Amino acid sequence: MTLGIERVGVVGGGRMGAGIAEVCARAGLDTLVCEVDATAARRARERVAASLERAVDRGKTDRPTAEHALARLVFTGSLDDLADRHLVVEAAVENPDVKTEIFTALDKIVEEPGAVLATNTSSIPVMRLGMATGRADRVLGLHFFNPVPVMPLVEIVTSLHTSAETASAVEEFAAATLGKTAIRSQDRAGFVVNSLLIPYLLAAVRMAESGFATAADVDAGMELGCAHPMGPLKLADLIGLDTVASIARSLYEEFKEPLYAPPPLLQRMVEAGLLGRKTGRGFHTYDRG
Ligand code: 3HC
Repeated sequence: MTLGIERVGVVGGGRMGAGIAEVCARAGLDTLVCEVDATAARRARERVAASLERAVDRGKTDRPTAEHALARLVFTGSLDDLADRHLVVEAAVENPDVKTEIFTALDKIVEEPGAVLATNTSSIPVMRLGMATGRADRVLGLHFFNPVPVMPLVEIVTSLHTSAETASAVEEFAAATLGKTAIRSQDRAGFVVNSLLIPYLLAAVRMAESGFATAADVDAGMELGCAHPMGPLKLADLIGLDTVASIARSLYEEFKEPLYAPPPLLQRMVEAGLLGRKTGRGFHTYDRG
């Protein structure tokens, strides 16, 4: 099956949603981003513009291509505008109730024949979102990695109802149109990457929490000792501590393994609004300017 995906919708213009929209627009697709209001839409546009500027500075693209990509992006405050999309990628907050509500609404709105609804969830069962629609055969996980324009991977996650045609069409789209490498995962909380990554990040939080080592030393250990591009606490700050905690909770709920339980320090930091880069402070501090 070839879906002929030319019109894409992205629900949510946060770091992940903006990154997904940028990658789609750079691939020449007609891309519509849905945010909750005009202020959020403006911030999403600024995020994409800043990232495109970095891509130009680093020689990853030329200025006319970046300008065309930005011009191709349309922002809206209404899900109703997504009616004619061939593919909608939901990238809202990692909250099962919010995502379920969005899928219920999208199922009624997106009326293009054969259109696929995808979720960028890191850990919420794709089946739960598929069952909120009347087209579970055309619902799947399309999980990108942060920063989306830089990381070459996507995970394709199929539920028990996702059709083989939908999965291969989206896999082909991710590879041929977006230039990403796809791996397949079954519909288990965390999929492949977060099942391995999150226990590692939580172990680093526990190390800092217990006073075993400082955050700076934990990060230096993995950057200089294992050649990771960033240490686990810097990476947790990049992902967002609220998102790390949400993924950990989903994993814990699914498997009941202590290694997935969010440590108290992580929970307290989230309650304190210390969410990492996006709030200027997490395990490290950041210039938000
Ligand atoms: N567009 C395109 N390319 C860009 C870009 C942009 N907007 N911004 C940067 N780049 C490119 C640079 O050109 C450079 O490419 P090169 O190696 O070919 O020269 C590369 O990205 C690195 O950029 P910089 O040198 O400017 O930046 P850093 O060296 O500081 O790297 C980083 C930043 C890419 C974030 C790096 O630290 C990294 O890879 N960190 C790990 C990120 C990671 O693990 N992400 C996965 C998180 S898990 C996840 O997302 C799942 C979720 O569910 C939680």
